Amino acid sequence: MYRTFNNGFLRLEHINQEVTLCGWVQKMRDLGGMTFVDLRDRYGTTQLVFNMEINSKICELARQMGREYVVQVKGKVVKRSAPNKNIPTGQIEVEVSDLKILNKSKNPPFTIEDETDGGDDLRMQYRYLDLRRSVIQKKIILRSEISFYTRSFLKKEGFLEVETPVLIKSTPEGARDFIVPSRLNQGKFYALPQSPQTFKQLLMVSGFDKYYQIVKCFRDEDFRSDRQPEFTQIDCEMSFVDMNDILTTFESLIADILFKTKGVRIGTIPRITYDQSIRDYGTDKPDIRFEMKIKNLTNICKGNQFPLFDQADTILGIVVPGAAGLSRKKIDSLIDWVKRPQIGATGMIYCKFNHLDTYKSSVDKYFNTDDLASWKEFCEANDGDLLLILAGKEKQTINAMGQLRIEVADRMGLRDPNLYKPIWVTDFPLFDFDEENKTFHAMHHPFTSPKEEDIELLVSHPQAVKANAYDMALNGTEIGGGSIRIHDRKLQNQIFNLLGFTNEQAYEQFGFLMEAFEYGAPPHGGIAFGLDRICAVIEGVDSIRDFIAFPKNNSGRDIMLDAPSKIHDDQLKELGL
Ligand code: AMO
Repeated sequence: MYRTFNNGFLRLEHINQEVTLCGWVQKMRDLGGMTFVDLRDRYGTTQLVFNMEINSKICELARQMGREYVVQVKGKVVKRSAPNKNIPTGQIEVEVSDLKILNKSKNPPFTIEDETDGGDDLRMQYRYLDLRRSVIQKKIILRSEISFYTRSFLKKEGFLEVETPVLIKSTPEGARDFIVPSRLNQGKFYALPQSPQTFKQLLMVSGFDKYYQIVKCFRDEDFRSDRQPEFTQIDCEMSFVDMNDILTTFESLIADILFKTKGVRIGTIPRITYDQSIRDYGTDKPDIRFEMKIKNLTNICKGNQFPLFDQADTILGIVVPGAAGLSRKKIDSLIDWVKRPQIGATGMIYCKFNHLDTYKSSVDKYFNTDDLASWKEFCEANDGDLLLILAGKEKQTINAMGQLRIEVADRMGLRDPNLYKPIWVTDFPLFDFDEENKTFHAMHHPFTSPKEEDIELLVSHPQAVKANAYDMALNGTEIGGGSIRIHDRKLQNQIFNLLGFTNEQAYEQFGFLMEAFEYGAPPHGGIAFGLDRICAVIEGVDSIRDFIAFPKNNSGRDIMLDAPSKIHDDQLKELGL
């Protein structure tokens, strides 16, 4: 037997037992007659002690080891004279009587400890070593657990896991496709799925009324910390359901995951419409761990000859609780922040509600204490609060205010990492209108059904049509989204036409689905959650990268493999490229 225990297991109750352990040498300390070694595996570390007086040969051999050597030791569990309270095995150590070096290791390019000296690129190049660090291992283990909880929940609910192909024809999810050239059909290309959307709908036509798949999706998108070009979805679809059925089923899944991973009970998840979400939070993925809802001050702020306000389409404010005492320097730094090109505001007005006669705003020249008092009342602010105001064009100001709300909450420490507050956002617009090209895009994807009561607006006023579409946001991150689908060929065709496809183009690209709709397609709908994102949000971090064993870097490269890379001329020739 290679090992009788792992390195996270031994406690005081094992004292005097003879054990065999295997693992990697994390650290060595040579104290004259005694050598101490921390032996690591994925379960923890155990301290080994080599005593020159008891066994000098073994001790000499131990002294020749270096970091990351792979070893097997036999020895006796003894009580430590100086316990380490910070690790579970800290009460004991193993007095080694036999040592076998199973493999040597070069000195690793960075220290394999929680706090490492390795930079990003180096750690990506030696990802297999980075993955030995317990902080990263914990993330990969969390991911495995969430996948397992998901599978057992969905199995219990009667879902079937069905695999769908990876070499397919483009599915429109709004990103660019990754393309694979075909050798046998030269000049033709497969696309990698941006999601299994059309296949899961076909499975509904086939009668698999509850489908799921934990599946890789591929999207050629620009980098963001919560995006990877290949990522994993918990992809689901159901037949004979309405929106409420889907929301109820999947809020139980999220509740189950949060309870099993964090012991948190979330209760019923609130539902708000897209319009409400944009109005109150300036975004369709609101963080509701804190209030600070957006107030529309357009009507009460105009008309005092203050040009910025008078020329603005929209004037919005947020009340920061208890922040009237914020220093000039901190306010200036927020003003600089909103002026960054990513936010795009021209400036920020503020008003401090101290007590009555000391209200102080950055626009005192135009507004007197009575005006400021009316703002305070309108915003339901309290003494001691700070009002921050942005003004400008409608869409841009709403967006900027949504981002300012998050930034201020971050700076004030209002985004409690121990709170989990999911929210459903429903009734998205069916289309996004591109003002520049005067074209419509599907806000979710083209298979999303319009709200029944809005169908007649498809002809007269498509911008106003709302969809049976929903997203779930958790702590300000969109973790999932889906919709009730169209299952009627005529309506699907009408949507394609509105999206700028001729009948022929629609048929060429999606003929298989439209035809399937003619063979008894049941009403159906579904949702997909981003598994990587669920992990990151649960751990309270922005980046999904460390929850993926072998992720891509910021420019979509795998530094370890050196991919993407050139291919040989004969391979190109074979593919007809
Ligand atoms: P959607 O495009 O909203 O919907 O994707 C569903 C969820 O997948 C996650 N996600 C990503 N995660 C990491 N990196 C990415 N590049 C990335 N892109 C998306 C998000 C998102 O909420 N077929 C539809 C679902 C449906 O209608 O059933 C779809 O793919 O968490």
